[in-house]
This record gives sequence, structure tokens and C-alpha cells, in this order.
Amino acid sequence: MDVIDIPAHVPPHLVTDINIFALPGAETDYIAAWLALQERGPDGLIWTTANGGHWIGTRGDVVRSLWADTTRLSNEVLAVVPGLGEAMQLIPLQQDGATHKTFRDAVMKGFAGRHIAALEPQVQALARELAQGLVARGSCEFMSEYAEILPVDIFLSLIDVPVGDRLHLRPLAAQLVRPDGSMGVIELRDAVDDYLRPRIVPRITNPGSDLFSRILAEPVHGRPWTEDEALRMARNILFAGLDTVAALVGMTAMHLALHPQDQQLLRDNPDLIPAAADEFTRRYPSASVSRNAVEDVQVGDLTIRKGDIVYLPSVLHNLDAGSFDDPMAFRLDRKLNPTHHTTMGVGAHRCVGAGLARMELIVFLREWLAIIPPFTIAPGGRIAMKGGNVGTCTHLPIAWA
Ligand code: HEM
Repeated sequence: MDVIDIPAHVPPHLVTDINIFALPGAETDYIAAWLALQERGPDGLIWTTANGGHWIGTRGDVVRSLWADTTRLSNEVLAVVPGLGEAMQLIPLQQDGATHKTFRDAVMKGFAGRHIAALEPQVQALARELAQGLVARGSCEFMSEYAEILPVDIFLSLIDVPVGDRLHLRPLAAQLVRPDGSMGVIELRDAVDDYLRPRIVPRITNPGSDLFSRILAEPVHGRPWTEDEALRMARNILFAGLDTVAALVGMTAMHLALHPQDQQLLRDNPDLIPAAADEFTRRYPSASVSRNAVEDVQVGDLTIRKGDIVYLPSVLHNLDAGSFDDPMAFRLDRKLNPTHHTTMGVGAHRCVGAGLARMELIVFLREWLAIIPPFTIAPGGRIAMKGGNVGTCTHLPIAWA
């Protein structure tokens, strides 16, 4: 255990030393690793001495209600990872209250449904091109050869830059998705900013028809965006939309490789793909978020004190039997309301890219199943995963006839 003082308001029986970045067993199944915390925290919270000491929400109702509480819990500091929040200053993720609303409203306009629908042909072309490049091979390592590439290419089409830029952005994106330790957080942020600055900042005064131009055309506090704000917003969208989409596409492919009957169902009934995409999104949550208490919060008999950090894993909401019936089952008859699960968050910070991510997943399923024959885990192949702020498959060897 780290040697830290356990605050007096934390009951000793809730104290553990679990490191959320090294959950036992996460490298083979990050979902099972999170779920193992359920029995440690039947009251809805546990407290860990790791990473400076913080709460972890362990029960679905507690995770969801704390996540939605933007009055007493702040987003300003990306807590748990020291220094990350100060380095990133993401807009709108790290904002609270009225300032958050102003910037988020502008970002939301860029992500309006009609704009997402207009992007679909481009996403479809990218998804098709990637799958066609693989089909003759009969096998691939799905994460590095498909799932991690698709969202980078989509990001490039969002900012309307030449496809040739892939070569420049992909290695940086790989560092974002799978840091190999060769770049620190600040170095990575600076490298990403060096790429984004000349492509984003000119759009404040000289807009095009791309997503970023549309966002930057919306005044904030009645004035144009500053260069710094534009960069922080672009950084947020880049950082938020790569690892998460790769995770969802990867976990979906893993499910299909392991469940040939579900794969066949969707091959036979492509009209079920949108409902399946919604259920995959509930069943395979990836993100966990952290909050700083700016007021005391009572949870049953427990008190989260002002200044405490709370960590909220969506796995422990979506896959709690108190939140969804038979939560581990992949079922198409749930009549899901996508705002009830927390894969995309809940409340004021709910993902602005949720519509885009849903469209990407649907297009992936349609194109992949149309091009790639029935596939399974490659013989002898081992699936690897990672936990942390975005849990995901990191290695998914698949094969087809
Ligand atoms: C499956 C894919 C995705 C997942 C699982 C996901 C998950 C999330 C979650 C859980 C939040 C809430 C964070 C919080 O409450 O602190 C969030 C916010 C956000 N996401 Fe996503 N996201 C995905 C895709 C995307 C995409 C594709 C984009 C943009 C291209 C995006 C942009 C953002 C932004 C800008 C925010 C901040 C919203 C705010 O603070 O108001 N995300 N996302």
C-alpha cells in the first residue's frame, strides 16, 4: 500500500489499495476486473490508497447519480492522473457550469444530426477501403490493422485535410491509444498541437465547410473563439474520439468472433444492425471518469468530503444487475434508451460525439459483415486487453476462410 493518511471520514472496511491503472486481471479481461470490485463495495463506494487516495463508485445507481451531479462534483481537473488536467485544459470536458454550457453549445452545433448524416458516405468509404485491404489476407490483428485506424481517418475527414496526413497523424494517434512510454503527456500534447495548430487556427477567421469551421463560427460569450480555445477544443475532440471508438469497434468485433450465432443473425438481418450497435455500446462500456468534490456529498451513510476525488467506471453501472436486467447478456429486445447507460456518460458532459460514434459503429458493422466472411478468433490466437481510463482490447487476432 502507498503510505498515505486515510481520511477520518473513510470507514476502514472500505479501504483497499487497488490501482485503477493496474487492475488485477485487466490484461485478459478489463470488464471482469472492474466487476470484481462490486463485492468489495456493496454500499456503492470503496476508497483506495493508490494514486494519492480516492473513492471508486462500485454500484450502478451510485456511479450514475454521482456522474450526473455537476453541481457538487467538478470536471475541471482530470483528477487521478497528476498534471494531466493542467497539461490538457480540454474544452468543453474540463469546464464547469455556465462556461461549460457556452462552449459545449457551440461544439454541439458542429455535431448536429444532419452534419453527422452528411459524413456517413465518407465514413462508409473509409470503412470499406480498410476491410477490402484485408479481405484477401484471411486474417488480421484487428486492433492495429482496423479498429485503431478507422477513427484516425475519420478525424482527418472531420477537419477536411488530405488523406496523406494519415502518415503524420497515425503515429501520434498510436501514442495516444497505446502509449509505449517513449513520449510523456506534455510531449505528446505538444506534438499533437503542432499538427493541429496550422490546420485549426486559420479556420477562426477563414472558415471552410468542415466540422471545426462550423464550431468555430459559433460565437462564445458573444465574441470569436481565441486561438488557445480553438486548440483546446480540437485537442479534446481528437483525444476523446480515437481510443474510445477503437475500443468499441474492437470489443464489438471480439464479441462477434466469439459468438458466431450473433454474427450470423446480423449477416442474415442487416436491419438489426442499428439495434445491435446500441446494445454493443451498452454491453461494452470503456470509459471511466474522475471528479473532484467541490461540496460534501452524502451517499447513504458515507460522505464524500469537499476536495475528495471520485472515480466512476461505466462498467460498474452498465453491467450491474440493479441497472439492467441480465446485464451480461447481449440482447436485442431491450428497447434501449441510449441515455440510460453510461458508456457515453450522463448529464451535462454526456459525449458530444455519441451520434458520430453510433454512426461509425453501424457503418463498421455493415461494411465489415458485407466484405469479410464469417470470422473467429485466429487458431491459437490470444486476446489481450488493458484497463485504465479507457478499457479496451489491445490485441485481437481474427481469421476467416
Ligand atoms: C464509442 C466512442 C466514445 C465513447 C465511449 C465516449 C465516451 C465519452 C464519455 C463517457 C464522455 C463523458 C466524460 C465525462 O463525463 O467526464 C465523453 C465526452 C466527450 N466526448 Fe466522447 N466518447 C466516444 C466518442 C467520441 C467521439 C467520436 C468524439 C468526437 C469526435 C467525442 C468527443 C467527446 C467530447 C468533446 C466530450 C466532452 C463533452 C463535454 O464535456 O461536454 N467522443 N465521451
